[in-house]
Amino acid sequence: MGSYLVTGGAGYIGSHMVWLLSQYGGKVITLDNLSTGHRDAVSYGKFIEGDVGDQAVLDKIFAQEKIDLVFHFASSTSVGESVTAPDLYYRNNFCETLNLLEAMARHNVKRLVFSSTAAVYGVPHSNLIDEGHDKLPINPYGKTKHFTEELIKDFDVAYGVKCIALRYFNAAGAHPDGILAERHDPETHLIPIALRAALESSSKMTINGVDYNTHDGTCIRDYIHVMDLVGAHWLASQKLLSDSVSRVYNVGSGTGYSVRQVLASIEKVTGKKVKYEVGPRRVGDPAFLVACSRKLVDDLGWKPMYSDLDNIVKDAYNSLYSVE
Ligand code: UFG
Repeated sequence: MGSYLVTGGAGYIGSHMVWLLSQYGGKVITLDNLSTGHRDAVSYGKFIEGDVGDQAVLDKIFAQEKIDLVFHFASSTSVGESVTAPDLYYRNNFCETLNLLEAMARHNVKRLVFSSTAAVYGVPHSNLIDEGHDKLPINPYGKTKHFTEELIKDFDVAYGVKCIALRYFNAAGAHPDGILAERHDPETHLIPIALRAALESSSKMTINGVDYNTHDGTCIRDYIHVMDLVGAHWLASQKLLSDSVSRVYNVGSGTGYSVRQVLASIEKVTGKKVKYEVGPRRVGDPAFLVACSRKLVDDLGWKPMYSDLDNIVKDAYNSLYSVE
């Protein structure tokens, strides 16, 4: 039990977190401005429509509710968009987290689980990326998350705000019962786009580059099922509540799949051909991003249970097209 503020709790990952918290029965307040989230995705607790950038809203929440820990999901998350609209990313990801941290410090709320990203590493120089890898992000999205991690460390030193930052690899899939889904508009992520290109007659997708230095020329990513990802958040929150030590962890499955392998899985699961054409590389895409999540397993006892690629695709398919 506990009392949690979930920013971005109406979004894709945040809404799965709210559902998971409902299973443990704590008090949950979701704060979301619905710019990309969906009110009907918030299945539990109290919902407040508002902005993390709004000090008055935060003051009211922290003054009225006795919050033990904040899960901070609210942010802008598309690599491609961050290249064309960096101002949005610096504001939503860095400035708004500064606002949240100031409010937390003011109200003596000292525990935070922060949504970071594998994009902080930039171009990897090893096959499996661990947390000590250089942080040289190659797109504004990764930069804003890296700078925000540094900002949080300074708030730890100055004001004692303790944080576990989780660096997500490629979040995918959905609740196995099909009750929640990945619903971005516009959608930029590979699995929902490729499902659409398999299942909707008018839809076709583009593979962003086939000339990478990988076994089949397409980019390799580490797809992590959203249920395993929110499970890591739960373990992180309980660790932080028990020992108040700041840490950072990768969250990935440790297995990489190319774009073409993902398309093959979609064809296997749906029984339909994915209609595609080959396009140029997308700016800001490293060829290979795969996690070493050993530290998360060793420190927190995390055991990914859902992250087999076909299972991820099956749950994404079911959640978007209600096939079961
Ligand atoms: N891709 C295509 N065609 C598409 C969509 C994607 O070929 O229509 C490719 C991308 O170029 C990339 C791969 O599929 O090579 C995966 O792309 P996604 O957009 O699904 O995911 P990203 O790897 O770009 O980004 C995700 C998260 C980020 C996170 C990053 C870290 O969205 O928040 O993983 O690995 F930073």
